[in-house]
Order: sequence, then C-alpha cells, then structure tokens
Amino acid sequence: MTVSAPARCPIDHSQFTQATAQKGPTGCPISHGAADFNPFGDAYQQDPPEYVRWAREQEPVFFSPQLGYWVVTRFDDIKAIFRDNLTFSPSIALEKITPTGDEANAVLASYGFALNRTLVNEDEPAHMPRRRALMEPFTPEELKHHEPMVRELAREYVDRFINDGSADLVDQMLWEVPLTVAMHFLGVPKDDMDTLRQYSIAHTVNTWGRPKPEEQVAVAHAVGNFWQYAGKVLDKMRADPEAPGWMQYGIRKQREMPEVVTDSYLHSMMMAGIVAAHETTANATANAMKLLLQHPKVWREICEDPSLIANAVEECLRHNGSVAAWRRLVTQDAVIGGQAIPAGSKLLIVTSSANHDEQHFVDADFFDIHRDNASDHLTFGYGSHQCMGKNLARMEMQIFLEEFTRRLPHMRLSEQEFSYVPNTSFRGPEHLWVQWDTAQNPERKDPAVLQAQQAVRIGESSGSVSRSMVVASTEQIAQGVLRVRLKAPDGRDLPRWTPGSHIDLQCGDTGISRQYSLCGSPEQTDSFEVAVLREEHSRGGSEWMHTQLQPGMRVQMRGPRNHFKLDESAGHLILVAGGIGITPIASMAARAKALGISYEIHYSGSQRARMALLKSLQELHGDRLHVYVGEEGRRADYSDLLAIAKTGAQIYACGPQRMLQGLEQASRHWPEDSLRVEHFSSTLGGLDPAKEHGFEVELRESGITLQVRKDETLLDALRSANIDVECDCREGLCGSCEVPVLAGDIDHRDMVLTRSERAACTKMMSCCSRARTAESKIVL
Ligand code: HEM
Ligand code: FES
Repeated sequence: MTVSAPARCPIDHSQFTQATAQKGPTGCPISHGAADFNPFGDAYQQDPPEYVRWAREQEPVFFSPQLGYWVVTRFDDIKAIFRDNLTFSPSIALEKITPTGDEANAVLASYGFALNRTLVNEDEPAHMPRRRALMEPFTPEELKHHEPMVRELAREYVDRFINDGSADLVDQMLWEVPLTVAMHFLGVPKDDMDTLRQYSIAHTVNTWGRPKPEEQVAVAHAVGNFWQYAGKVLDKMRADPEAPGWMQYGIRKQREMPEVVTDSYLHSMMMAGIVAAHETTANATANAMKLLLQHPKVWREICEDPSLIANAVEECLRHNGSVAAWRRLVTQDAVIGGQAIPAGSKLLIVTSSANHDEQHFVDADFFDIHRDNASDHLTFGYGSHQCMGKNLARMEMQIFLEEFTRRLPHMRLSEQEFSYVPNTSFRGPEHLWVQWDTAQNPERKDPAVLQAQQAVRIGESSGSVSRSMVVASTEQIAQGVLRVRLKAPDGRDLPRWTPGSHIDLQCGDTGISRQYSLCGSPEQTDSFEVAVLREEHSRGGSEWMHTQLQPGMRVQMRGPRNHFKLDESAGHLILVAGGIGITPIASMAARAKALGISYEIHYSGSQRARMALLKSLQELHGDRLHVYVGEEGRRADYSDLLAIAKTGAQIYACGPQRMLQGLEQASRHWPEDSLRVEHFSSTLGGLDPAKEHGFEVELRESGITLQVRKDETLLDALRSANIDVECDCREGLCGSCEVPVLAGDIDHRDMVLTRSERAACTKMMSCCSRARTAESKIVL
C-alpha cells in the first residue's frame, strides 16, 4: 500500500504537542485520543457515541494505531461514505477484525470454512442485481404474513414469566424470540433450529470481536461447525425448494439466474443471515427496553399512548442502536471530512456516533421519542446496502414493546451492572433484569388487556411524532405580536435547541399548522417560546393563534428542527432582520455575544410599535444594533452595508421576500455561500422546478393516468394516488423504489441500474428518474 502525506491536513496538530511520538499513515502526529482508542475496552462497549465524543467534536476522522483503521465519527461524512460504495467498498464488512492465529486458521480450514460474499459485503456490479432479485420477501405485504407468528411468540414468552415478578428479558425472551423469527423468515426446518441457535454467537466473536489467543481455537471449532451445519441445512432446503422461507426463495431464484444467486452466496448467507437477522434485533430490543425504563416518564407515555411506539422504536435505534459501527475499504485515494485517506485504508465508521451528531440531530444526546427526524439514524446503514431486513426488525421491536407496555406497564429496571460482549459492531446488554409487582398485572383485573392490538407501522411513516404541549402564558410584546410560552404537560425537560430552530404549531383541529422560529434562551429546557405576528391577510393560522390561544390550553407541536444553522466558526456575523424575522436573528445575536463572535444586527420595521423585542435587543446589544424604522424615514441600504465583501464574514437574514432579494443582489460580489437566509421547508426533494417539466404516467393495469408535476417526483405522485411504492433513500441509491416500465423515454438519474438496463428501459427508479421530455408519456 502506498501511503502519501495529504496535501493539507485540516486537524490542528499543535494541540497534540504532548502526543505520543507516533505518526499516522499520512505522516501526521497522532493525538492522545486516537492513540488510546480501543473499541474492545469497556468504555466503548458501555457507550460508543460518548466514548468518541472528543473525536466528533475535535478530530472527526482519525487513525487508530491499535486497530489499524481510520475511524470516522460524523453524520455527514458517514452518510457520504455509505452513498459511494465504489470508493468505499463494503467488501470487508464481514472480515475478521482481529486476524486469527495459524492454529485457529488451520481449524477453520479443516471444516472447509469458506464464508464469502453475501450481500452486505458484495461489491458492484454483482451486488445490486442480487439485492433486487432477493428483495420481494422483504416488502411490507410479504412481511405482514409473519406478524401473527411474531405476536404469538411474544405472547407465549411473556406468559412464561409474567407471574414471576422479575425476569432477565434477554435470557428469557429477547435472545430467543428474534432468533426463532429469523429462522422462520429464512425457512430453517424446525428440527435444526436448536443446533443453529447454539452456533450463532461464535460467529459474532469470530468476526467482530477480539478473542484471546487461547479462545480462538474454541471459537474456530464452533464457527467451523456452524459453517458445516449451515451447508447441511441448505441441502435440506434444496430438497424442498417450494417450502416458505427467504433461503428457499433464493434457491428458486438461483434456477432463473444462477450467475446472480450463486452457490457460494447461498451457503454464506445461510450462516450470515442468521446473525444479520437475529443478534441485531435481539440487541436492539434489549437496548430499547433499557433506555425506555431508564426514562420512566417516557415509558409511562408510551404505555398510555401506544401510537407513539413506532417512533419510539426509531428514537431507540438512533440513541442506543444495536450496530455501533460498520466497515468499509477505501479503493482509491479519497478525502473524508477534509482528511486525505490513502487507497487501501480500512474505515471503521462509527454509526452510533453519527446518530449523536449535533449537526444533524437537535440536542442529539437527549432521548426524545417525538423527534421528527429520528428515523434518519444510520443504524441500518444507508444507500445501496441499507439493511434489507429493517422492516422485519421494526415489526418485531414494535410488537415486543407493545406486549411489554400493555401487559407490564408497571415494570421497572432492577439494580444491576450491564455487561457487553466486546466487539466493534454489535452491541446490547448480555442481561437485562426487570421487576414488577405481580398483583398489579393489568390482565388480572381486565383480561381484555390481552386482546388489545396496535397496528404495526413498517412503511414510510414511522408514527406519531407530534408532542402535546400546554400554553404556559401569552403576552402581547408589540402591536400585533403575541409571545407564546409552551411547556410539557408533565413539566418534563424539553430538548435544547440551537438558534435558527423552528417548531410547527397546530391550530387546534382546524387542520392548519404554522412554523415559528424559537426565541428565548436555547438553554432554557422547561419551555419553548415563539412570537406570532398577526398577519393582515391571515389564511387562518396567525388569526387563530391570536384569538384562540389561552393559558392552560393543550396544543400539538412538532420539532424543533433547524434548517437555518449558525456557523459558529464565522469571523464576523452580519445579522439582518425584517419585521417578525427578528425571532431567529435575536437568538443568533445572543449566541454570538455569548461566544464572543464579532457581530452586528440590522433590524428593519415599518413602525416602531410593531417591532418585537426592540427594548431587550437594545439592552443586550447596545450599539451593535442598528434599527431602521420606515415611518421615521430610516431605511436600511443593503448595497451600502455590503459594499465591501468581507472574507470570513457570514450574513444571516430573515424577513420578507423583498428584503431577501435585495440582500441577494447586494451580496453578489461576496464569496459564495456568504448569505444564508431562512427557508422553512424543502418539499422539492432536491428537484429544481425551474429546470424540470411535468409529464404524464399511465398505469395500464389499474387504468389510471397521473400527471407528475415539475416540482414532484414520480414516487410522490404515485404515493399521492395511494399507490404503495417502497422507498429508502429517495436519492436513486438503494433500488427500493423500482417500478416496471412498459413504454416511455426515460431520463434515468439513479445510481442503481446498469447501462444495459437503462437502455432496455423496462424499469426505473421512481424517486429520481423522470420522462425525458414533457411530451414523452411513461406507461407503467
Ligand atoms: C444489512 C443493521 C436486522 C438483513 C445491514 C447493515 C446494517 C444492518 C448496519 C449494513 C448496511 C450498509 O452497509 O449500508 C441491522 C440492524 C437490525 C437488522 C440494526 C435490527 C435492529 C436485520 C434483519 C434482517 C437483516 C431482521 C433479516 C434477514 C440484512 C441484509 C443486509 C443487511 C440482507 C444486506 C443488505 C445489502 O447489502 O444489500 N443490516 N439489521 N437485517 N441486513 Fe440488517
Ligand atoms: Fe432509493 Fe429510490 S433508489 S428510494
């Protein structure tokens, strides 16, 4: 491997003056954090995102000499790696992270062990055709068939301990049920389940763990046996290929496309598939239960309102998922997060750290089952290799949580220390002791409890994310401007937010909702504050807020979200507000002051009496505040203000469209991206309607014709017409939104189809590809 020093390393190595004398493969000195990084130690096992917090904050991409891997910790970098599976090959995903010694290797060889490419570690162009060929059993319709079996197992296992008053949920249920589900899903004959069950853990230690030299031989024997046994089970399946099961489905597909679904794939998947489907889900549920019981108010909330379970599952997978990190091999010199990484390097991408990245998740460490982007987590990976079994896992987790919340709402965590099997990737407590008072079991008083059922949500929508809030106070703070303070009904802490964040408030049951920037102090976690301007031509929203909101009233809200983030590394901030646009700008100014960033505020309004927050801004910011009041004859001159482009300065603006256009014109000669304006939501999914055209789609079988507008995707148009189409990435990467094409001239924009598949034009990715011209109708 040739290793060359990067042209420019973005890390400030002066902070490492005390560092070890070690140098990384790029010639840069290695920091203490990097030198000490040990993913097999207890600190990583207990809390991986916390263990690499220092890296996420200061050295997001670093070389670990102990592991021999580059470690990547931030959300955007990791997502970009998942997105590009040619530069970042998944081929090492199942490679032993700790190379075994000669003796163990000889043992494995004696069993003919040849675990090879499956899906998760297969490169293109072999991977995508195989993924597509094997996808059908994972569609929501197919998964529905497994729901009664999962429910029955969950019921039966809880029956076994419900009258005991305490249980180790892992040993007594969570380890076995997902394994049994996995075996059913794969199609393993009942007689073989017990044997396979015993072997599966050895595979995890062999692949992702660091067995001691004296353990390696025993592990190798177990893995070798597992391999041989998997082969035998596969032979049995081949003898009865019409039996139900994903493996049998693969065996049938092999007849049609032997070069896509190979023998080597089938044997390897027979073994790897059990681990993929079993431990991931068992650990994820154990982690989720631990987290929920550690937050009794949240636990109570989902017990009272099971419709929250689906999103709670996503938030648990984000906050405390069962896959802590994943791996990729760098196939050509690359740059990750500004750090040059030579070809041949191995990457440990710490997805659990990405899931706690403040740049992507508001108050990332806060456990918030109402978080509306919780399902953005990377626990299932992302892009073309994203977990195919994610909806099976979601279904299982939702059913387990539903069973526990319904039958054991009074359960609590017992005093205990948690232990984990040391490995880089799979993570869950080995035991999870809980206890409860059996006299309080709800089914003793009301047997109907046993019958209640919450629908499983495994499609696009991950469930209810809105939060119920109470209006704590309302106050007129300027003419036509109402300040509204909202609290959680049980007074619990709310997520911290960052300047520029907004929330969506629902106007009672009118069906109208409005977005408002948060004002007040982000550190104040007991309430949210917004300022609502009564619009002259209100379409109902602001009018409702001003006339209907009363202290004590319940309202529904979503968020906070932030699409208008402040760059805290800016050298100087020019903060410009027009009218009620002052709300995000005021919190940005307060933050700039607190951080000691140089800043100036320019605040315009038509009448002084209508300008909110003026007095407090004057008090806090003194002569950094410039006020322009129309009726007093003072108007902001943006050409003058921005006449000289200042390097390192950023302009943040919120206000009426006219003001924003003026700023855009006046800042043309500034470096690109200097001007950042508030735009609430992007519903265009990356489409630029100015450059697109609408087109027609005929759905031959159903006899429907649809118009796809220039600002929507085919996927959106199909879904609006109530036609279910799967989708994972919405970026043309994963292949899940494929639709068959009967006729049409298609502009293929995905990364999934091969050149010949494009030319054949028999399928397309509905999330991104379109008709080539407005005239060319597509027939599906
Ligand atoms: C791939 C996690 C459950 C089958 C993956 C990947 C991860 C993952 C991280 C690699 C993604 C990437 O490289 O982008 C999980 C977690 C689960 C879970 C956290 C439970 C909570 C399951 C289940 C199955 C399954 C129940 C059922 C068989 C697969 C398959 C792939 C995969 C087949 C390979 C997809 C491909 O490479 O195209 N999973 N998984 N997983 N998972 Fe899961
Ligand atoms: Fe992933 Fe379309 S290719 S959703």
